[in-house]
Amino acid sequence: MAKTELTSRAALFVIVWACLAVPGAQAELCSELNCMPPHCRCPSTQAPFSLPPGDIPQLVVFSFDGPVTPKYADFYQRLFPVGLVNPNKCSAGVTLFVSNAGEEGRIRTDYASVQKLYRLGYEIGVNSMSMKRPEMFWNDATYEEYVTEMVGQRYLLSLKARIPPSQIRGLRVPYLQPGGNNQFRMMADKNFMYDSSLVTGPVSEDATENQPAVFPYTLDVPPEKYLCDIAPGNCPTDPFPGIWEFPLNRLFSTHGAPCAVADDCQTNSADDTFRYLMKNFLRHYKGQRAPLGLFIRPTWFEKNNYTLAGVDAFLKNMTARKDVWVVTMAQAIEWMKAPKSNSQLLMASKDCNVNPPLLANNATLDIIDLYDPEVTSSTSTTPATTKQGKTTASSPAHGDRHIDSRNRANSEMFYFKLLAFICSLLVYHLIL
Ligand SMILES: *[C@@H]1O[C@H](CO)[C@@H](O)[C@H](O)[C@H]1NC(C)=O
Ligand SMILES: *[C@@H]1O[C@H](CO)[C@@H](O)[C@H](O)[C@H]1NC(C)=O
Ligand SMILES: *[C@@H]1O[C@H](CO)[C@@H](O)[C@H](O)[C@H]1NC(C)=O
Repeated sequence: MAKTELTSRAALFVIVWACLAVPGAQAELCSELNCMPPHCRCPSTQAPFSLPPGDIPQLVVFSFDGPVTPKYADFYQRLFPVGLVNPNKCSAGVTLFVSNAGEEGRIRTDYASVQKLYRLGYEIGVNSMSMKRPEMFWNDATYEEYVTEMVGQRYLLSLKARIPPSQIRGLRVPYLQPGGNNQFRMMADKNFMYDSSLVTGPVSEDATENQPAVFPYTLDVPPEKYLCDIAPGNCPTDPFPGIWEFPLNRLFSTHGAPCAVADDCQTNSADDTFRYLMKNFLRHYKGQRAPLGLFIRPTWFEKNNYTLAGVDAFLKNMTARKDVWVVTMAQAIEWMKAPKSNSQLLMASKDCNVNPPLLANNATLDIIDLYDPEVTSSTSTTPATTKQGKTTASSPAHGDRHIDSRNRANSEMFYFKLLAFICSLLVYHLIL
């Protein structure tokens, strides 16, 4: 008698738990039932299913962080001369995440160089104003501090390098220390399209067989631990619908040591640098063809000048291939939104769009309150800044989309909770 009662109580407990947990789990897991490109993509190591296997282009994405000095701009232009082109004869793409000051404020960005590179077709993103230390600052920074650092830097770039803020869509946090919900809430509010700060991938090369590289994804569902794998790791825990993440899949040196930032892997000659990059390329190329991200600090080229020769040889090898595309990070994300096969890319328009229009002088700038006169006045004035440039921060359509998808996620959550409630009510009445 007592035993039966106990069993039925245990059964009741299990059923109620299942009723509550299953809808909850559904709301937490990303599924292609409710997350489809272009606005949403679940984290995955598989190529978009719409692509025919065997005709998937391999994207290679170079990005550089920190301040842009004339010397660094010279490195970039040696690596990416105008004649370095993709299979459709358009220039290879590069992304620069620019900070105003360097580490410990030793060097500052030369905005005339940034402007020149932007006009050559480089994508410009932000890396912060100050790059301040300690590194943990970026873990703990408040929402307001993220606004000042990132929107402030976007403002400086628009003012001094005359880049329309709407063209500055990407962000990387200094020292790869993500700022959790504060960082991503700021990004959603201030119309950033993507982040590229979250480190993922196994730390042992052998494990890459079972855990291949992750494709870019959206943060409609908070990332699981393996997707935001850096200590101490202030990872976002709220959903940020429509915000893209270009993940930093770990690379491996020729000796098998892991690194998230390409220049943390040691090389000892130009040839070794080439073999190191080639090895990581082949893992992507012969696997699922997730975009290969190469994240480099330009100090790599200063420390050892053979690295420049190694990267140069690698780039020439890449651009000699008919199914490899060296593109900007924003282009890689556009491709994720609307994946195209290699043949489709080859057939697509030859409009290369390497000369973005100059900033209009008369539009209004709605981020003027974030202007930091101290930082700005200490930076030398370039000819480009003599006219006060003003422009709109971003297109309103973009913001609307964020709100739409956030509402959608909230209403889905509401229905799941309602379902769970009705379910437990039913169980209660049936059994008791
Ligand atoms: C590289 O640096 C070494 C000395 O550090 C110098 O002798 C050599 O000429 C440099 N090579 C190039 C290609 O700049
Ligand atoms: C690229 O480098 C690899 C490895 O050294 C070599 O086998 C291949 O032929 C090269 N491809 C091109 C197009 O240069
Ligand atoms: C900016 O000026 C140009 C010509 O000077 C004009 O055609 C355009 O309408 C102006 N834009 C705004 C937003 O006022």
